[in-house]
Amino acid sequence: MEQNYIKPPVEVRYADQLAALAAADTGKKPENWRLSPKAVRTFILGGKAGDVDIPRKFYGNDALVERCIITLAGSRGLMLVGEPGTAKTMLSELLSAACCGVSTNTVQGTAGTTEDMIKYSWNYALLLSKGPCREALVPSPLLVGMEKGIFARFEEITRTPAEIQDSLISVMSDQILNIPELGDEGLVLAKPGFNIIGTANTRDKGVNEMSGALKRRFNFETVMPIADVHLEKEIIIREAEDMAKAGHIDCPVDTDVAELLAVTYHELREGKTAEGTIVDKPAAVMSTAEAVSVFYQTISHSWYFGGGKTDLGLLTENLVGAVCKENKDDLEKLKAYFRTAVNARAKKVGGVWKAYSETAGLLR
Ligand SMILES: Nc1ncnc2c1ncn2[C@@H]1O[C@H](COP(=O)(O)OP(=O)(O)O)[C@@H](O)[C@H]1O
Ligand SMILES: [Mg+2]
Repeated sequence: MEQNYIKPPVEVRYADQLAALAAADTGKKPENWRLSPKAVRTFILGGKAGDVDIPRKFYGNDALVERCIITLAGSRGLMLVGEPGTAKTMLSELLSAACCGVSTNTVQGTAGTTEDMIKYSWNYALLLSKGPCREALVPSPLLVGMEKGIFARFEEITRTPAEIQDSLISVMSDQILNIPELGDEGLVLAKPGFNIIGTANTRDKGVNEMSGALKRRFNFETVMPIADVHLEKEIIIREAEDMAKAGHIDCPVDTDVAELLAVTYHELREGKTAEGTIVDKPAAVMSTAEAVSVFYQTISHSWYFGGGKTDLGLLTENLVGAVCKENKDDLEKLKAYFRTAVNARAKKVGGVWKAYSETAGLLR
């Protein structure tokens, strides 16, 4: 694919790396996988494929990534749970692209997801003219996954009502999907390589429980927010640079500002500053993904409307927008954070922290 896309799928974006890994792969492979578990690990956690450098894509818990790969090679599904913005979707895309060559075979869970969307539906024009036949069938990602022996991803599964989620149970326990309308031809047996990766946010509003019966079909892995501020800063910088490149915004990313934002997010998420002062945690989710978006918004605004230099006033305004969208009390918590942590650091280290503290008037 030569053209530009806003967000090409992982297998397109990293096609060169996947090809290099496949060429150098000597590891044992589960049936129908594109890469061995070892090569999948390298794709996600970084390393070498022959002479080609493979950069790390997921930071944090390496053992978790290995466990995910092993789960997917087995007969139980993989369920990634955690707070929003902890890279559950990213990890499931990376796993699918590396193991199956496809990351887009996906059902997005919503309150309106129906059983048809999970199993199959019909092209009604063809159904009326030809009757129930294979041609008239519209397969779901689950059915496609079973027939091709690839993964089906189920994003935000707990947004879907529990009784709809439960339509996965029979497929996951028997690896069979029956389409009664097709008579004898209606029995679809899953090919090796098929599995399901689900993701679920633990802190979102409007989530449904999962039934015990469905839970037992999955291995659960909890993805935690990044614990290391420096790592979070690196991710913010790397993501912002990628987004700026894609958006043709040619301004240098201010690493001091990225650090200041990483520290702000980290301390508000933990409820404690680096010096040990307790701060009130906002009710809003303080995720790395949100930090990236606040940072990029600021760069982009400075680029189009300003002189290109990252404007800390804009950063603070964007921070207010991101943190205080659901809860008015969060604004007070942000103000308190500026009065204590930001002011103290402005006095101690000066520099960007001083400029940051001077934007406190914009917290409204
Ligand atoms: N541990 C991590 N490693 C790498 N990037 C991360 C990590 N945690 C968060 N991110 C960043 O956050 C973004 C959002 O992740 P996403 O997969 O949409 O989160 P989720 O599905 O958990 O809500 C990622 O694309 C990445 O830029
Ligand atoms: Mg997600």
